[in-house]
Amino acid sequence: MCSVVGYVGNEYSRKFVLEGLSRLEYRGYDSAGFACIDPDNNRLMYAKSEGKLQRLVSLLEKEPIDGFAGIGHTRWSTHGASSEQNAHPHFDCEKLISVVHNGIIENHTELRHQLEKTGHTFHSETDTEIIAHLFESSLSVRKELPEAIVHLVQQLQGAYAFISLLNAHPDTMVLVRKRSPLCIGLGDGQMFVASDMLAFAGKTRNVIFMPDESFALVCKDSVELYRFDGTPIAVSVQEVDVTWDMYEKQGHDHYMLKEIYEQKTAIHDTVDFLHSVKDRIWDDMGMSAKQICALDSINLVGCGTSWHAGYIGKFFFETIAMLPTQLHLASEFRYLPFFPVKNNMFLAISQSGETADTLEAIRMVNEFQIPTVALTNVSSSTMVRESEGFVLTQAGREIAVASTKAFSTQVTALYWMAHRIACEKKIINTSQLESAQHDLLVAAEVLENTIENYKLSIIKDLAPRYARYKKMIFLGRHNSYPFALESALKLKEIAYILATAYPAGELKHGPLALIDADTPTIIFSHQDPLIYQKLVGNVQEVKARGGHVIAFAFEGQKELCDLADTVFEIPRVKSMLGPLAMTGLMQFFFYAIAKELDRPIDKPRNLAKSVTVE
Ligand code: F6R
Repeated sequence: MCSVVGYVGNEYSRKFVLEGLSRLEYRGYDSAGFACIDPDNNRLMYAKSEGKLQRLVSLLEKEPIDGFAGIGHTRWSTHGASSEQNAHPHFDCEKLISVVHNGIIENHTELRHQLEKTGHTFHSETDTEIIAHLFESSLSVRKELPEAIVHLVQQLQGAYAFISLLNAHPDTMVLVRKRSPLCIGLGDGQMFVASDMLAFAGKTRNVIFMPDESFALVCKDSVELYRFDGTPIAVSVQEVDVTWDMYEKQGHDHYMLKEIYEQKTAIHDTVDFLHSVKDRIWDDMGMSAKQICALDSINLVGCGTSWHAGYIGKFFFETIAMLPTQLHLASEFRYLPFFPVKNNMFLAISQSGETADTLEAIRMVNEFQIPTVALTNVSSSTMVRESEGFVLTQAGREIAVASTKAFSTQVTALYWMAHRIACEKKIINTSQLESAQHDLLVAAEVLENTIENYKLSIIKDLAPRYARYKKMIFLGRHNSYPFALESALKLKEIAYILATAYPAGELKHGPLALIDADTPTIIFSHQDPLIYQKLVGNVQEVKARGGHVIAFAFEGQKELCDLADTVFEIPRVKSMLGPLAMTGLMQFFFYAIAKELDRPIDKPRNLAKSVTVE
């Protein structure tokens, strides 16, 4: 999604703004822009360009504008194409007010018509430009900034975080936040502002996370915070401990590769953390042990990779904790009837804790008497704040757009949670919970070792060979089916190869028509003997039609290995953890294919990390 960054202080702002934007560029990279106040005449100056941030950097080298207050933006297009014209910042009619914005103004069409009728002229197709014009019109009727902002936000609908610089207030940044994150880093004679504190990590440890529906007036030595109705809010500063070097690529070609290799540690950290909170976990989840014991069912919700992790988790909750589990795609859930049932809990799964659809699903369920719990990787996220409770994964920051370690730590946490609930319900005892933790660590070991085992043959032989194909079919059964879904998503998003995933039993109900020598079938095996035999049958169906098979098999699955054209053999782990054990190898294989195809792996086209708009 879009990122906003701002600076006001004793130093020139451009360097910080561009550095902050480059740290957040993984969230959106369709266009970029910068605006600042000219120190000589207090007038706004700006530069913007289509495409990646580097183009803006080059432009600014030729036209080196700078000032002590500056704002910047990287865009992930929602309203209007990726063009220079639609790049932020946007302005009012007189170019006296500049705005950079993350989010969506839902009533922008109606507002645009109203503003056009009163003589405002627009220069872009964006919803953001409406904010600048509306701010102009609010300031014409309310002279003081706080009053004008109250008037402005009363007219805006949607989710937004924006920063505005105004000619008339050259020393002040205006920050407004509703349902999209915005934070302020407090420095010495300087203030850093961003939609994500990663932008200023290492520059200050003192951070204000703006509350929802609030606005702030930020000068180099002061922050005034207000509610949307204009009443002041006491400023609460939190101390955070993050440095930027924690997020460098550390010698890897891509963040994705670094993050693939971080998985073993991330799983260990997640298990250790969950183990350390095992006695207070129900408090964290905002529930009581009694409520847990009374649970009759669970609802899971998420988007994309997090939904896939939830799908695998459904097998854990049903088999280990004996809880019927319903799984929902957040983007669908919001528009379907919801039938609340008693003794249920609603677990929202999200790496970022900011995904708009999942967040809205939580808000919807919060209206009923059902506990909402966020399973997320970001403790300061909106989902943690807005759910009744939370469970945290310990993946560390994930920068590559394609999720890797977030997925494996979600699967880890879901497996652990299913056991912890089963333990509370006395379905298993504490030593079985301890064994489950051990099984997760074993799977993490296998996840990493299998990459090492196949690394050379993938790089030298398999990736070049399979990068030539234009489409692939993915098959799985039981919990290897959601894993097939996740694998197909990885291949699509980073290699741009068309990939479709099916439960293997569905083959003969249609997809078998796709089988030919140009469409490899990738099959993910299972350790359960019955499921395995069924999968072997499906591979025979594919081979009988001249298909080409790549098998992710477990050690000893000879029949499958003999049938397949390419085999990855994976050491056996606890049966339910098969997908976790296969995760590293699957990700590495597709990473290597994408690299072979020279794709921009960390920032695939059209995508962005953390989808904070619907
Ligand atoms: C794919 C990917 C996305 C996210 C999805 C949800 O690799 O990363 O599908 O999983 O956008 O994001 P979170 O988990 O932040 O809610």
